[in-house]
Amino acid sequence: MERRPRRNRSTAAIREMVRETRISVNDLIFPLFLLEGENQKVEVASMPGIYRHSLDSLFNEIEECLELGINTFDIFPVVDVSYKDKTATHSFNPDFFYLKALEKIKLKFPEACIMTDVAMDPYSIDGHDGIVKDGIILNDETLEVLGKMALAQAATGIDIIGPSDMMDGRVGYIREVLDDNGFENVAIMSYTAKYASAFYGPFRDALDSAPKSGDKKTYQMDPANAKEALLEAELDELEGADFMMVKPALAYLDIIKSLSENFNIPIAAYNVSGEYAMITAAGQKGWIDENAAMVECLLSIKRAGAKIILSYFSKRYALLKSVE
Ligand code: PBG
Repeated sequence: MERRPRRNRSTAAIREMVRETRISVNDLIFPLFLLEGENQKVEVASMPGIYRHSLDSLFNEIEECLELGINTFDIFPVVDVSYKDKTATHSFNPDFFYLKALEKIKLKFPEACIMTDVAMDPYSIDGHDGIVKDGIILNDETLEVLGKMALAQAATGIDIIGPSDMMDGRVGYIREVLDDNGFENVAIMSYTAKYASAFYGPFRDALDSAPKSGDKKTYQMDPANAKEALLEAELDELEGADFMMVKPALAYLDIIKSLSENFNIPIAAYNVSGEYAMITAAGQKGWIDENAAMVECLLSIKRAGAKIILSYFSKRYALLKSVE
């Protein structure tokens, strides 16, 4: 035999040397859930090991993660139903606890990179990402709310805005609003190809943000479509996105690959709540080796072409690597 590929697998040292894909803690963004109040750390039932924190507890979590080398955090608010309304007014009320907390986080950890989510759903009484009128999600009226939300978030000093709503034209609209108000250095990580997925369930439990009627299929993409992701990516590139995200990650590795081959903007992938829940639940039952499955999934996302991974596994991965 002239070729024996097994030679390059024969020892751990050789395998380390020929390994094509590596994950660095610098690639990871850790999503965090913020609660109003003090002294609270409440586990999300469908996401064992993931908590909703009040600000004091969130400070501890961020500090521990920074020590492990995780530098970027995507912070989502848990909004009490009493604050929810048709037009998500609390999303741009500068006195709202979430915006106040973002300011305090940036002051306490100026070295951390803080990302926020722009979409109406956590603040909307309808549980939709846009304004609902007679059962229809209004696009252009929603852009105005998203612009105000992005501006209010940028004013707290955060680094990256993440529009997750899938309205048409929102990246360009938000870019213009930010630039017109002196926030030209705030970046946009667009949820470029966000699919109408069954894998967001545990996240909606965490935020109590599920749609009250209908589904999100008139704005989030059909899981059957790949070319459409290229169209969304072309538009986001033209509209000024700094990063382009594919979401979810594991059932969409082909989309990650196609975007990374066709665009020169860093590609991120969101390893979503349902993906975390599946691996964690099977691990708890003793049906799979949870850590090995976690590493394999994160590797697959990176191998497909994602430079950046948003994952609820970020801290667990960093802890695992810190003891290796
Ligand atoms: C809000 C938003 C969602 C997620 C991130 N931002 C849920 C949704 O669109 O319904 C999902 C994240 C996850 O499942 O981990 N627009």
